[in-house]
Amino acid sequence: MTSKSPFQIGGVVLPPYFVGRENNIREITNGLKTLSQNYLIVAPRRVGKTSLLWAVKNKLDKEKEIIAIYFNCREITTKAGFARKLVELILQEYEKNHSIKGYLESFKRAFKGKILDAVRRLDKIGGSIGNIGEVYITFREGEINEEELLERSIHFLEKFSKEKDLHLIVILDEFQKLKDLNGYLFELLKSKIDTQKNVRYCVSGSSISMLNEIFLQKDSPLYMMFTKIYLGSLDKKTVTNFIQKRLRKFNIDITEEGLDLIYDYTHGIPYYVQKLGHFCFYQTLFSKRRVDAKMVHKSFHRMLIEFDEEFESRFLDKFSPKRRAILKEISKTDGARVSYIAKKLGLDVNFLGESMHFLVESMVIERKSRGFYDIYDPIFKQWLRNEL
Ligand SMILES: Nc1ncnc2c1ncn2[C@@H]1O[C@H](COP(=O)(O)OP(=O)(O)OP(=O)(O)O)[C@@H](O)[C@H]1O
Ligand SMILES: [Mg+2]
Repeated sequence: MTSKSPFQIGGVVLPPYFVGRENNIREITNGLKTLSQNYLIVAPRRVGKTSLLWAVKNKLDKEKEIIAIYFNCREITTKAGFARKLVELILQEYEKNHSIKGYLESFKRAFKGKILDAVRRLDKIGGSIGNIGEVYITFREGEINEEELLERSIHFLEKFSKEKDLHLIVILDEFQKLKDLNGYLFELLKSKIDTQKNVRYCVSGSSISMLNEIFLQKDSPLYMMFTKIYLGSLDKKTVTNFIQKRLRKFNIDITEEGLDLIYDYTHGIPYYVQKLGHFCFYQTLFSKRRVDAKMVHKSFHRMLIEFDEEFESRFLDKFSPKRRAILKEISKTDGARVSYIAKKLGLDVNFLGESMHFLVESMVIERKSRGFYDIYDPIFKQWLRNEL
C-alpha cells in the first residue's frame, strides 16, 4: 500500500513514521525485560508517550519468554472493568504468542452465558486461568465485591506468569485516570509489586500534579517503586533528518532554511513536526517540488488557523483570568522571570506563586532556570501572541 503523505499525524506511529527515542526505548525495554525496574513516563500532551509505549511493547514482543500488554486507562471507569480487561489482554496476548485458542473465550464465559457451561470449560483448563474464571463467576453471583475481584486479578498476573514461566509486562497509558478508582488500585499495587517477581509495570501520564500525588510524595503509595523518565522533544538533528528523509521518499527537496524553520516553529514536538511537515508536503502538490522557507511560513499559518478553536476553548475553560494574564505576559517574550511578570501585571510577586505552580504542574509552562519560565507549547505560544 502506498501512503498519501510522508507524515502521519495522530494515532500510534510506527517506523518509518516513528523517529528517535532510541535511548529511552533501550533503557526501558532493558529494565523491564530483566525485571529490574518499573517505569513512570511523564510528558506534556502530544510529545509521544503513547507512541513510545507501543515501541517498547513491539520490542518486548520479540522476546519469546515475555508477554507485554498495552492498556489505555482512559477506557476504564470501574474497578471491575479494569480488572477484567487486564486478564483479557493477558490471555489474548498469550494466545497470540503461543498459537493456543480457547483461554480467552472460556474466561469470557465466566461473565456471560450459562454458568454451568462456564464452570465446565474453566474446570477443563484448570490452573490459574480456571481459578481466575471461577473468581469471576463468584463475582457475578454477588459473593465477592469489586475490590476483591481486583485484588484477585492482580494476583492472577503473578500466578499465571509463574505457571507459564513467563515475564509479564503491564503497560498502562494515561495512568492518572485510575485515580478515579479511589486510589484503591494504587494501594493494591504498592502491596503487590514487591512480591510479584515475574511482573513489571510501565506507566505514563501527562499531569505532573496528579502523578506527583500518586508517585512522588513521601507518603504517596507508589513512591520509590518506579523509575521516572521525563520525555522531551526531539532534538534538531533528529527532526531535520526525519523531515528530509520522509520528503525525499516522495521526491521532494527542502532547503536548509526551510528545515531550520520547521524546527524553530515546532521546537521538536513530534506531533507538530508531523503536522507542519505534512502541510509543507501538501503545498508541493500544487507548486514546485521543493519546500522553501516561504512555504514553511505559509504552512505554519495554516496550522495556527487549524488550532485556533482548540486553543481558544482550552484557554478560556482551563485558566482563570489571572493565569491567562500570566500566560499572555510570558508569550510576549522568550521566557520571563516571575518578578518581571509581577511587575508587568502590577501585582506582588507572592501573589503569583500559586498560579505559577499550577501552570508548571499542568505542564503548560516550563521552568527554564531558577525563577525563569517559558511556555512549553510553541504553537500555543504563538497563538497567544496573536491574540494580544
Ligand atoms: N517518536 C515519534 N516520531 C515521530 N512522530 C511521533 C513520535 N511520537 C509522536 N509522534 C507524533 O505525535 C503524535 C502524537 O503522539 P502520541 O499520541 O504518542 O503522544 P502522547 O504524548 O501520547 O499524546 P497525548 O498526551 O495526547 O496522549 C503521533 O500521532 C505522531 O504524529
Ligand atoms: Mg497518549
